Amino acid sequence: MTLRIGDIAPDFNQDSTEGPIQFHQWKANHWAVLFSHPKNFTPVCTTELGEASRLKPEFDKRNVKVLGLSVDKLDDHHSWSKDIEETQGSKLNFPLLADHDKKVSGLYDMIHPNASDTMTVRSVFVIDPQNKVRLILTYPASAGRNFTEILRVIDSLQLTDNYKVATPVNWKDGDDVIIVPSLQDKAEMDRLFPKGYKVIKPYLRTTPQPNKPNK
Ligand code: BEZ
Repeated sequence: MTLRIGDIAPDFNQDSTEGPIQFHQWKANHWAVLFSHPKNFTPVCTTELGEASRLKPEFDKRNVKVLGLSVDKLDDHHSWSKDIEETQGSKLNFPLLADHDKKVSGLYDMIHPNASDTMTVRSVFVIDPQNKVRLILTYPASAGRNFTEILRVIDSLQLTDNYKVATPVNWKDGDDVIIVPSLQDKAEMDRLFPKGYKVIKPYLRTTPQPNKPNK
């Protein structure tokens, strides 16, 4: 079954570097980033796991739990972790699923047979506190992911869940945002956006980011 935005992220039980994980129970009421690695002891994956570990304080700030996956055995994960710490200068500080039976990669459609029968692609799933899939990214094995982008989209999701706004092209936390087109009542707009707003077109109105202090 193909997973889509808005679907409930499938639950699973799998071994990890931090012991067995029952996904929904482990995640509880946090956000989660679940991301796959094609294979252990590969260079791009090694850099990604180092970077995701280095960014742990940024994920924590956003109430996000990080969970990696690679389709290798637990013993290999433990010895690869040592290489990650040695070469990337940051110790793996989140669980890495040992998906040797491809249980989770199958559930999340992380193996794309026309790319490879055995390795996963680089999938990213951002899952919200209600276990809904909110973002799906798919990269080829040859391209390392941009974790600044993953954090940026989490910022956008968390902001737009709480305010009647959307985020424009290349937006980053602190930039002006767009008032959702469905909001047309002027009194309501004045109430929701006391910092003011610009009407560029009836459907394109911008306002300072509502959850930030005035610039
Ligand atoms: C890597 O992580 O470096 C990698 C993995 C599979 C194929 C190509 C590169």
